[in-house]
Amino acid sequence: MTAALAIQDYTLLEDADCEARIKEAKHKLGERLVILGHHYQRDEVFRHADLTGDSLKLSREAARSKAQYIIFCGVHFMAEVADILSRPEQISILPDLAAGCSMADMADLAKVEQCWRELSQVIDVENQVTPVTYINSAADLKAFCGRHGGIVCTSSNAAKILEWSFSRREKVLFFPDQHLGRNTGYGMGIPLEEMVVWQAGKPLGGLSEEQIHRARIILWEGFCSVHQIFRPEHIDRFLQRYPETRVISHPECSFEVCQKSHYLGSTETILKTIRAAEPGTRWLVGTELNLVNRLRQEMKPKGVDVHFMSPMVCMCSTMFRTDPQHLAWVLENLTEGRVVNRIQVPPNETVEAKSALDRMLGLD
Ligand code: 13P
Ligand code: SF4
Repeated sequence: MTAALAIQDYTLLEDADCEARIKEAKHKLGERLVILGHHYQRDEVFRHADLTGDSLKLSREAARSKAQYIIFCGVHFMAEVADILSRPEQISILPDLAAGCSMADMADLAKVEQCWRELSQVIDVENQVTPVTYINSAADLKAFCGRHGGIVCTSSNAAKILEWSFSRREKVLFFPDQHLGRNTGYGMGIPLEEMVVWQAGKPLGGLSEEQIHRARIILWEGFCSVHQIFRPEHIDRFLQRYPETRVISHPECSFEVCQKSHYLGSTETILKTIRAAEPGTRWLVGTELNLVNRLRQEMKPKGVDVHFMSPMVCMCSTMFRTDPQHLAWVLENLTEGRVVNRIQVPPNETVEAKSALDRMLGLD
């Protein structure tokens, strides 16, 4: 077999060249291939996706796919989920290995295990605490949840997952996104003072024993920097000018932004809500720019006015790493029978992570 085609031969290609090459390679690979695309992907990549969605929808698609190759135009944890949920002979590919998620990187196994050990000095963790990991996390953290009777959640099912967790144990350790945990918990009626933030690196996470005893949810200190650019004053200013505006935000936004929003939802929910909106309505949207720009274009002819919440332009830089050049590169290698950028979760992690993912998928 000839050597793999090198990414260096693709980086200088024009987008239009890549477009033609991607189409041709897709045609050659036919049903052996499925391309999954997250809503934050740039247009030049998104348009090649066979299936698009939020994290939950795309995990389900990965689990039911029959294709031999699953190319994930998203970020690293998503390609890991595809590998975990697909059959062993299927191959999950991430076009650019540097496409991580900075929030997922804010929790790692060593720190979460340390937290678990420290908590166990104060409470009976195995009987009192359900570990819940947001799907935006590494596979070894999903495996940790699998081992300890825990579960995975996404932004579209977090409330249901917390209800399940509380029906089994009285407390939840929620990582890595404090905002999704807090916004969801509050929406379920848990007061803010019963949700505490664990600061990894400080003794007992910077908490007193009493705070731990009283807490219903122990939140990891992680956050998504993209969603922290949206501020409550952006909403106030917009509503002053256009008071009839409906505000919809992703639950990774801060508590203050979520409190001022009329609706909260995953990327798929945001799209569905605005697509169902009446002509003449105006929407302010707190989530990533590529999604909002595409939605604005789509809804304009229908008389629905869509605005990005922040005055600053801010995209998810890691989602943006997947470009047509990388997509053409992985696809053309596949047409020559070579797999580049395979994402493979170790077998022992796969079993435990899958049990936490299956618990989630079983509830939907
Ligand atoms: P969704 O599951 O809502 O698509 O969110 C994924 C994500 O990374 C949001 O920042
Ligand atoms: Fe991660 Fe935030 Fe990017 Fe979503 S938007 S992939 S949470 S860094």
